[in-house]
Parts: sequence; C-alpha cells; structure tokens
Amino acid sequence: PLVRREDYTAPSHWIRSVDLSFDLDPAKTLVINRMQVEPNAARPGEPLRLDGEDIVLTRVLVNGESISFRNEGGQLVLENLPAEPFALEIRNTCAPEKNLELSGLYTSGGSFFTQCEAQGFRRITYFLDRPDVMALFRVTLRADARSYPVLLSNGNLVEQGRLDHGRHYATWVDPHPKPSYLFALVAGDLVCREQRVRSRSGRDHLLQVYVRAGDLDKTEHAMNSLIASVVWDEARFGLSLDLERFMIVAVSDFNMGAMENKGLNIFNTKFVLANPATATDVDYGNIEAVVGHEYFHNWTGNRVTCRDWFQLSLKEGLTVYRDQTFSQDMAGEASARAVKRIEDVRQLRQMQFPEDAGPMAHPVRPEQYQAIDNFYTTTVYEKGAEVVRMMATLVGEAGFRAGMDLYFQRHDGQAVTCDDYAQAIADANPGSPLATRLDSFKRWYAQAGTPRVSARGVYSAEQGSYTLTLSQHTPATPGQPVKAPFVIPVAMGLLDSDGRPLLLQLDGENGYSGTERVLVLDQASLTFVFTGLYGLTSAPVPSLLRGFSAPVILDAQADEAALFTQLRHDTDPFNRWEAAQRLAVQRLLSAVRSGQPLQLDAAWLDAQRVVLRDPTLDAAFKDLVLTPPSAGYLAEQLAADGIPVDPPRIHAAREALRSQMAQALHEDWVWAFEAHQDNGAYRPDPVSAGRRALANLALSHLVLDAARTGDTVWPGKAFQRVKDAGNFTDRQGALIALLHAHHELAEPALARVHAQFKDEALVIDRWFALQAGTPERDGRVFARIKALALHPDYSLRNPNRARSLLATLFVMNPSALHREDAAGYVFWADKVVEVDTFNPQLAARLARGLDRWRTLAEPYRSAAQEALIRVSGRADLSPDTREIVTRALQD
Ligand code: ARG
Ligand code: ZN
Repeated sequence: PLVRREDYTAPSHWIRSVDLSFDLDPAKTLVINRMQVEPNAARPGEPLRLDGEDIVLTRVLVNGESISFRNEGGQLVLENLPAEPFALEIRNTCAPEKNLELSGLYTSGGSFFTQCEAQGFRRITYFLDRPDVMALFRVTLRADARSYPVLLSNGNLVEQGRLDHGRHYATWVDPHPKPSYLFALVAGDLVCREQRVRSRSGRDHLLQVYVRAGDLDKTEHAMNSLIASVVWDEARFGLSLDLERFMIVAVSDFNMGAMENKGLNIFNTKFVLANPATATDVDYGNIEAVVGHEYFHNWTGNRVTCRDWFQLSLKEGLTVYRDQTFSQDMAGEASARAVKRIEDVRQLRQMQFPEDAGPMAHPVRPEQYQAIDNFYTTTVYEKGAEVVRMMATLVGEAGFRAGMDLYFQRHDGQAVTCDDYAQAIADANPGSPLATRLDSFKRWYAQAGTPRVSARGVYSAEQGSYTLTLSQHTPATPGQPVKAPFVIPVAMGLLDSDGRPLLLQLDGENGYSGTERVLVLDQASLTFVFTGLYGLTSAPVPSLLRGFSAPVILDAQADEAALFTQLRHDTDPFNRWEAAQRLAVQRLLSAVRSGQPLQLDAAWLDAQRVVLRDPTLDAAFKDLVLTPPSAGYLAEQLAADGIPVDPPRIHAAREALRSQMAQALHEDWVWAFEAHQDNGAYRPDPVSAGRRALANLALSHLVLDAARTGDTVWPGKAFQRVKDAGNFTDRQGALIALLHAHHELAEPALARVHAQFKDEALVIDRWFALQAGTPERDGRVFARIKALALHPDYSLRNPNRARSLLATLFVMNPSALHREDAAGYVFWADKVVEVDTFNPQLAARLARGLDRWRTLAEPYRSAAQEALIRVSGRADLSPDTREIVTRALQD
C-alpha cells in the first residue's frame, strides 16, 4: 500500500489516555487496553479505524458494552460510536517468542523487549498507531517473579507487589502524553548501574543502565556518556531532563541502533557495552554519540514530535545534528572537533551521496513510501542533519539558539512538521540570510539529489581583484527530472601561494577585514568579486566549502599546485584533509580510467611524508589524511561522470597505492609506529585514540611491506600484539594488519581471538566482520565468507551477527562482492530471500547492497540485474524488500 504525504488527514478520534495491562508469557501474552477516546470535532461521525497486526482480538467494549466490529484492510473498524468521549476496552493476545521481526513485543535471551517505532505498537494492541495521536500512558506488567524480576515501562514506578503463583507486578505512569511509537516495556533478569544527578533546575534524577548480569563491567562508559548528555543539553540548549528516572536497557537482538522511548531507551548492546578488553576506540565514540542521540530525542522527538512519518527528519535530522555537535564539544580542542567533522563528512559521502544518486533517492522529507521502515535512511538522518547545520550557519550560533528556543516555545507538546521547524528558526532571525530566502531554502526538504557546485576564479593583478563564479546543477532523480536552485552556504577563504590567508573584501563593501566568510549561492550561478588583492605573485588559492558547509559535490579544478598548497597550509583543517583526498582520488582514478598500473609520484609521496612527520598535527588527523579514499567513494566519482564501474580495477589501484605507500614510507611508518606506542593506561579520549589509530595504520603498512622484503619481524610483532595487546583497539589493529596483508599468521591470530572471546558476542560479531571486510585476493575472501556463513557461531536470526558477514560484504567490501562468476550476487539473493521470511526490515536493509548495480561495467551489471530480477520474482516477498528491489529495477 503506497502512502503519500499529500494524503495526510487529521485522525477521526483522539486517544487521550490509555491504561495497558500485560500478563507476560513468551508463548501467549494477554493485553488489556483501556482507552479514553474523544471524537475529533473536526471530523464528526467518522468510524474509528484501529491499527492491528499479527495479534488476536478477544473482545471490544465501548463504555462497558460489547459492540459489533469488522476487519477491513488490516484495521479494526468501529462504527456508530458515541459523539461524546467514551471508554474503549480491547483485549487481545500476542506471541512474543514467535516475533522474529523484532517489531512490537518480542523475547531475546529470555527477557521481553519492545520496539514500536515506527509501527510496532499495532503488533502489541489495537490503536491509532500514528504519531499525531498522543496519550497519557499507565502500564501494569505482570510476570513470573523468578524469570522476570525486573519490570520496566515509561515514566515513574508508582506501585509494585507480589501476586499468586509466583508472579509479581509493577505499575508505571508516564506524566507526559506521547505517541504510541514511544511506548516501551522491558521484563527480565537484568542488573543495573545507577547514578543520581541533579539538574540545573535543582531536580534530582535517577539514571540507570540495565544489562544482563555478566555485562555490568561494560556499562561505565554508557553511564558517563548519559551524564555528559544531560549536562550538555542543559548548558547548550537550556533543555533539562523532565523525568525523575531515565533508563537505558541493552538488548542483543535489535534491528537498529537504539530507540528513544520516553524515559526508557532501548539500545542494541553494540551501542552500550564497552570495556577496554572488548571494545575499540570507535565503539567508545559510537556509544557516546548514540547515548547522546537518544537522550537528545527527549526534547527533539518526544516533547516535540512528528505529525506524520514524512516528517521523520524533523526529529532525526535535528537530533543527529545535536549528537554530532555534542561529540564535537566532548572532543574538546579545535583540531579534535575537525577530526569529528571529517569523519561525519566521510560517512555522509560514503553512504548518503550514493543513496541520493541511486534508485532509492528521496528528499529529506519523502513524498511517498510503501514501508516506512525503509525510510530510516542516511538521507533522512545525515543529510537532514546537514540541512539543520546549514540553517545554523545562516543564522549564526546565537541565532540558532534563539531559533531553537522559539521552536520549543511554540511547539512543546505538539506533533509538527519540518515547515514548523524551519519557520521557527527563521522567525527568530528576521533579516537573516535564512529568513530572507526561507521558501527557496526549504527546497532542501523537497528535492532529492546532491547538487554539484562548480567554482571558477579569475585573478586580475592590475585591478587587485579576484572574481569567483559559483554555479550549481543537480542531476535528475527518480520522479524529479528538473531541480530548482538550492540555497547553498559556501564558507570560504583565499590563500596566497605561501598559504597565508587573505583579507576578504567584496566589491562595493568597505570595512570587512576577516579572512573567512560565508557566501550564499542561491541562484543557478552567482559571481562574487573580491577586491584589494594587490601585490600577489600569483592567483589566490580558493579554499571553498570550508568545514563542508553544504552537502554538495564541489567540482574540483584539478589544479595540483593549489591542492598541495592547501594540504600544506590551509587554516581550515577540513579543507586540508579534502585537498589530500583530492590528490589521492586524482591519482587513483587516472589509473582506473587508463587501465595502466598506478605509479605514485615523488611529490605526492613526499607530501604524505611531510604530513606524517609534522609535529604540529594530531595523530588522528594524520590518520585521516593517510587513509586512502574507499573503493565505494571512488566508484561514485566514476559513476558521476558516467564511466562504468569496474570494481576489480578500482581494487587493483587501491592495492597498488597501499603497497607503494608501504614501501616508499617504510622508515616513516617504523617511526610512526614506535613514536605512538606510549599511550598510558587505556582511555578512549580523542588524543590517545588518534595515536592508536596512527600506530595501527603504520603497523598495517609495515606488515604489508613484509611480503616484499621477506621480513618476518613486523608480522611477528603484529601476531604478538594479537596475543597480548592491552586493549581491543590494538588487538584488532594487529589482526587487521595480518588479514589485510593476507599473511599466513592471520589464521592463527583469528583462531586465538575466537578462542579468547568466544563468550563475548560483540567481539565474535567483529571477528566475522573483520574477515568479511578483508580486501579480496584470488577469491579467497569470498570463499571464506561463504564458509563462515556455515560456522556454528553464525546466525541470521540475530541482526548484529547477520550483518557482521552480510552487510560487511554487500556494503563495505566491493572487492569481494563483485565477481565475474556472479557468485557474490547469487549469495546476495539467497540471503536476502532467506532473511525476508522472518525479518523483512533486516532483509530490506541488506537488499540495498545492490542499489548501485546500474553503475557497474559488464559483466557485473547484467549479473547483478539478474539477481535482482530473481528476488523480485518471488511472490512471497515482504512489502519492505519488495519496495527496495522494485525501485532498484525501475527505470
Ligand atoms: N528513532 C530511532 C533512532 O534514530 C530509530 C528507530 C528506527 N526503528 C525502525 N524500526 N525503523 O534513534
Ligand atoms: Zn534518532
């Protein structure tokens, strides 16, 4: 069933309050649902259509009397209802242990959990399961006291006690009205770490992190992140925790990352559990970001929620922006903030740009969907965050805060739209570049596709002027052949040939004396004339789109000298990194295009060495500069120019780059490894994490180079580290070094890690993923992946474990997926179809792995198409997976 944004209508009724009671039993749980319903005066006399899915109805009472009802299109339809508010009681049952979709009420590891966003509540009981219906919830849980000692739901615990037959109960009341997607319950044998905090308002709050008994020693970082989130939201946005109690619960079977249920966040274990022995620096960073993200939803999502699911980015784009800002603030120093920004942009380009160029391209506010779960995308999340970031850039930091204040003043307690949000930010900043262009700015919500911006600069020495012409063009996307111009903030500066920043004075303006400013490109093409630039020995070097001020592709003029200048001197660390990327991309792509082997030049290698040895740069930044662009990113560059993508060729070029870097910088890698060893006791702070990252990058080059030199010392050191590293980051770094070099010690290293961590599910996930992510050589990696799919520890039922092999292969490892014999695509089809029989959400995600099939060269393209056709030919496909493969095959 296709749902369209333009078809939105207000609900026929409001549900003002709901009293739920659960008799929890894994096989058959009884739900009694007592609602206070009020007809919507704007829509008198309409029937009430309640959503329900995979549940068994046992009775319906209106004001205590049974009434007739019918089922229509999966909804329960009640007619001839009172015109006045009335009580509606529904009884139904569900089967949590049979719920393998992990949506609604399900069991995992012997406990009960829920996931209701977007439409899981209807799998628990009948309801108006839409975000604009907000009710007060009272929830009573009854369960066996021995098996389920902990009984949790949203809000405050108001009552608990014993019942007959060894059962017990607890009643929870949430003081804040909320939509059904924010409902949650948990029942099980769990333990918690807890801490009290006092907010600025003087209120006391109890913070708790619930996990299984063996995992308590892995909750400290999540708790610290939660405390930091509470403090940050108060300090930065004046937003305080509005509950006496705030709980996080970890569950190992979970489709997504985490969920912001009011006062009872439920998390994938991957984003809660960490100790130095089992988690990497990246895991620590992700936990901080996701804990922050879910906590920040309490205001951006829960207090102010979405009117309908087309508005998803209202809460997700904004909350991602908030969590990114939080992580930057936590990172501290300017250089560490820049590193976080670079990582976020790298992620956006790697995941969102391809989405925006492919069959699933959709606006930040989509116009239609078949399965809403398919639209929890990187466009809605990460591009949505960029849209918020551009607004913040256009109104300034203080203006953005004023806009947020106005947004809450206007809309607290409401279910609203993206228009309401943008309007509040603009209204708080009259006369700003946002307010004066609000309608055209909002094209970012409506038009899909990544704009391409080109820049042409002309310097006149006599006139002392630099004329910069910026133009934009956005390619067609499915259903949107023509695009109007976007409003694009271009943060920029100019450098002289020695890298010194120049004063930026626009023609006709006097008195501006800064070296950085934001140009607003709001037409197809605009020209800016900078004046007063006398006495330069050569044309200024433009540093454009600083900090990646807009989610666009900046067409590079391939001016090598300017890029080297930027790499050496740009005061904007983002553009410094960007210059290095462009220099690497140019080299890799010219090899790929020409079919000639890559041969790196001394100038480029020297520049890499200079960065690596530069005592003024952070290790984390060096790591980013020295890490080559991913195969996926390179493929997208070719696709954008209409060149068919030949994955093995890209792979060969990257491998050549790695081995030449390993050889040419050998002594420098030795130095880098030795110089970044002394990191003290493990702390996941950005400085020591950056040092570990660089040391591990060095080690991987040294082990790679051993194949050339016949050296056994560095591989031996790597193996030793796999055995005795003091933290998992270094252990994993050493294992990667051996794996990516296809060294013979990789096997025993893998065996050791498996033996040592066989009871740590998240480490075993990693163990699978590292193997699946190894760059292909002679088909051995793919063969190993197929064998691992039969490993006794492998399972498709647990999403993390399923993804460890499959998402890694389909999304992260093109070198292993794309094969002349099409075996990768056959494997893709088989696994998508298999997973689809029990978990459509997960299957649809995995199915996205072939999104970009049209960009491939033959024979890959036809073979991938055949696999897609095979999957779409299955009559029993879920609507989720059907939507993905249908769109992929559509012209
Ligand atoms: N709102 C959650 C978050 O961003 C994501 C939940 C999405 N779940 C789903 N099944 N679509 O943190
Ligand atoms: Zn979110």
